[in-house]
Amino acid sequence: MKTDFIHKPLNLPTDDLIEELLAFEGGPAVIPEDVRRTNFPIITKEDVIQMFVSIQQDGDQVVDEFKEAYRRYVGANYAIATASGTSSLHLALVGVGVQPGDEVIVPAFTFIATAQAVVAAKAIPIFVDIDPITYGLDPVQAEKAITKKTKAIMPVHVHGLPADLSALRRLTDKYSLRLVEDASHAHSASIHGQVAGSIGDSAGQSLMADKNFPVGGEGGIAFFKEKEDYERALHFLDASGIDYRMSWIAAAFGLSQLERLPYYDAIRARNAAYLTNALAETKLFSGPFVPDGYKHSYNMYRVKLSPERLGLDDLEDYRVKDAVQQLINAEGVYAREWQNVPIPGHLPFKNRKGFGKGYPFTLSDRKDFGYELDRFPVTLNMLRNSLTICRELRTPIEYERIVAYALAFKKIDANPHIIRKLVERGDNLKVLYERDARLG
Ligand SMILES: Cc1ncc(COP(=O)(O)O)c(C=O)c1O
Repeated sequence: MKTDFIHKPLNLPTDDLIEELLAFEGGPAVIPEDVRRTNFPIITKEDVIQMFVSIQQDGDQVVDEFKEAYRRYVGANYAIATASGTSSLHLALVGVGVQPGDEVIVPAFTFIATAQAVVAAKAIPIFVDIDPITYGLDPVQAEKAITKKTKAIMPVHVHGLPADLSALRRLTDKYSLRLVEDASHAHSASIHGQVAGSIGDSAGQSLMADKNFPVGGEGGIAFFKEKEDYERALHFLDASGIDYRMSWIAAAFGLSQLERLPYYDAIRARNAAYLTNALAETKLFSGPFVPDGYKHSYNMYRVKLSPERLGLDDLEDYRVKDAVQQLINAEGVYAREWQNVPIPGHLPFKNRKGFGKGYPFTLSDRKDFGYELDRFPVTLNMLRNSLTICRELRTPIEYERIVAYALAFKKIDANPHIIRKLVERGDNLKVLYERDARLG
């Protein structure tokens, strides 16, 4: 077995790289190809030993130990460790009393599992547009979507920035609804010191391999504020006989990773702050907005493009984005579309076959589910005008690399004529949400 050791260091890049020819045009890439690899998660001897030792231990005890340690870290009252984020969301919904045929309001911009968990609870996801600045569920649109059937609102702390939970809490109080967090991107994120997952009535959180706090492979955890909701979720598991249990090998890995989570979080925060400051010196790019008192966990880092600030607003925005993606990728920064279609445009919601014969959508007497894409103009605009850095900022990358990322964006910003050239010679590129839905 080979270890994942990276053998070559990345040198600290110098500012004069910005003057060089773009890599796409044959110049030197800011990050040369042989030093592009990053490792995630970081695995130590402790992780390995914990996992191996756990195999012969009492599985329930290991999972319990993990669950308690992480519950205390988050500051939640009750927790159930699960096999995945999707199953944790299912339990979070069932726990607060979501019943077949109920409606649950979710954002149009998230990962499909947010809405699929609603379907798993045999309820109907009602999609709502996002805020143009934070990309979180827009409370004004959420209020407009409330009907007699609405049981819960489930915001997503998308990319790691907590959603506007105070505004949503005012809504759930006003209309006697339940507030369920999808905290899958938001490990250690917080609002005024309260950690994501402990703020709503309940929460679900993925702990799978691509998350800031991965338990190795698949995993998740559901949190509850009230004992009654926690017990309702436990009762559902008992009564249905569904096995949503977390593997104890994953729990053992999680226990040992948890000790280093604050350290990795601090490196991510340092890197994100560095990049955001550097992007503020460009015209074309800007980093995520973080409201006062909010802590972003940067599971993903969405870069916003403002083509008008580079005199490129006569070009189609999605073509500018596409050209920039090619140019930045050539420099060694793997920025990409994370989602190209709002979730209501993904096949399970276009077709609404559900579990078969249209169930649970058949429980609804709605003629109009509101799933047409033109109902989500803010999401569409955001998708056309932004690119996302995923794993490369999630990994606690070294200082040299984040300096290089910043330089790569500055290099593109200094070459608007190349962006224009690429767009003008571009072929019949479809606007991204007219293509099949995909993550990458
Ligand atoms: C926002 C969001 N919610 C839910 C999930 C589902 O988690 P899992 O894949 O662990 O079931 C994910 C997974 O990527 C996610 O990104």
